[in-house]
Amino acid sequence: MSYAYSHPDPHVEGPMHRVPEEGMRKIWGWAVLIAVGGFLFGFDTGVVSGALLFIKPEFHLNALEQGSVVSVLLLGAMAGALTAGRVADRLGRKMTFGLEGVVFLVGTAMAVFATGYPMLLVARVVLGLAVGAASAIVPVYLSEISPPSIRGRTLTLNQLLITVGILVAYGVNLTFAGAENWRAMFACGAVPALLMVVAALWMLPESPSWLASRGRTREARKVIASVTDDETAELLLERWNRREEEDEKSRPKQSGWHLLKTVDLRPALVVGLTLAAVQQFGGINTIIYYAPTLMQSTGLNASNSIFYSIAIGVINLVMTVVSIRLVDRAGRRPLLLGSLAGMAITLGLLGLAFVLDLPSWLALVAMVLYIAAFAAGMGPTFWVIIGEIFPPRARAAGSSASTTVNWMSNFIVSLVFLTVVNAIGEGQTFWIFALVCVFAVWFVMKYVPETKNRDVDKIDADMQVRFGRRPASGEAARRG
Ligand code: GLC
Repeated sequence: MSYAYSHPDPHVEGPMHRVPEEGMRKIWGWAVLIAVGGFLFGFDTGVVSGALLFIKPEFHLNALEQGSVVSVLLLGAMAGALTAGRVADRLGRKMTFGLEGVVFLVGTAMAVFATGYPMLLVARVVLGLAVGAASAIVPVYLSEISPPSIRGRTLTLNQLLITVGILVAYGVNLTFAGAENWRAMFACGAVPALLMVVAALWMLPESPSWLASRGRTREARKVIASVTDDETAELLLERWNRREEEDEKSRPKQSGWHLLKTVDLRPALVVGLTLAAVQQFGGINTIIYYAPTLMQSTGLNASNSIFYSIAIGVINLVMTVVSIRLVDRAGRRPLLLGSLAGMAITLGLLGLAFVLDLPSWLALVAMVLYIAAFAAGMGPTFWVIIGEIFPPRARAAGSSASTTVNWMSNFIVSLVFLTVVNAIGEGQTFWIFALVCVFAVWFVMKYVPETKNRDVDKIDADMQVRFGRRPASGEAARRG
């Protein structure tokens, strides 16, 4: 079997040039390596809860200090995501990826050799910088090495490895809990971090569209030709050049954040930022981070807490695999809509279970179904879409901005969740999350374009129409 690269002529619909199977295998190999960035995202956010059990007595941490060890990572991630786009535009995707690996190594070493609370806190900020930067750049890099026909799947690989990273972190916690060795728990993160550096140095290609945008046409041609053939490479480059020329004619030359302020990019920005916020304000990480505490409050035995976490981690992973199978077939919109509707319903039930004090197994079932609904759509699809909706010149900046809002929202929800629960109760809090999902269903229906197997021009045309900035025919059809 072979797969298609997008047709190099923007006026022709559908794929024409085929990537041979061998080229395809190469691309999948690159995609797995790039998604190691996602693995560390999951690992470093997941490993701390288990490690904290043993750090607490050794460093004599009070509740506030414990909370800070967990949450400063989110602050670091915000800063990392915010700066990563600029770095990736300047130094390239590959070099940025390698540097992220180095920052992961530094943060890991600081955590492993931490002599006290302050050093551990700094280590967590450094790890956060790497997690945030990786989360912003991995979707961009994946998107740029993938032909449209498999782009949904390679981008979903990022979320798959995030869930694997969370699960491996729980496994590592279990393994070293007996020896109370929290340093060894953190140390495990060094292996994938090293792999990132090695991959950037010797195994990964630079993103061809980034190379082309820097005028490094010869190198770009070489990368594309290594998975297709010379003719396809030539045609694709011609097309990119043409688009760039058109862009330069019609738009003032701008870069980085300034670029995002241009009117043309507003629809993509609204979609990216809104999906980023609703992915977090739908409450996912209150379950990922607090499942054991919540289960305890429904009356289930708290000593099974690791078991609940692992069960939730497994469901999360399995359903992400399901979404990989669906994303390039069903498309992004059906997955998002089905997922959000499922999340709204299961959150409604979860809320009911708490408010009416229903049997605790019911709450557990609702929680599991909620995770399943999230993992099959909203979880991966946000990371897919932010790799797809921005045109190449604004891709890194757009992904950076969206990812920053995702981390900021994550931070806000994690920070205030327990306080809100104390004020209005668990059930009512879950109902607020349910309302966010209902809003998101409306938003996706109205504004989120289908990106499946479409190139950037078509995606953009769809968005301009959805935002009422262009009639459904006319310019949109011309650019088609
Ligand atoms: C998504 C979210 C992240 C969450 C994870 C859980 O990647 O962005 O915040 O922890 O899913 O699987």
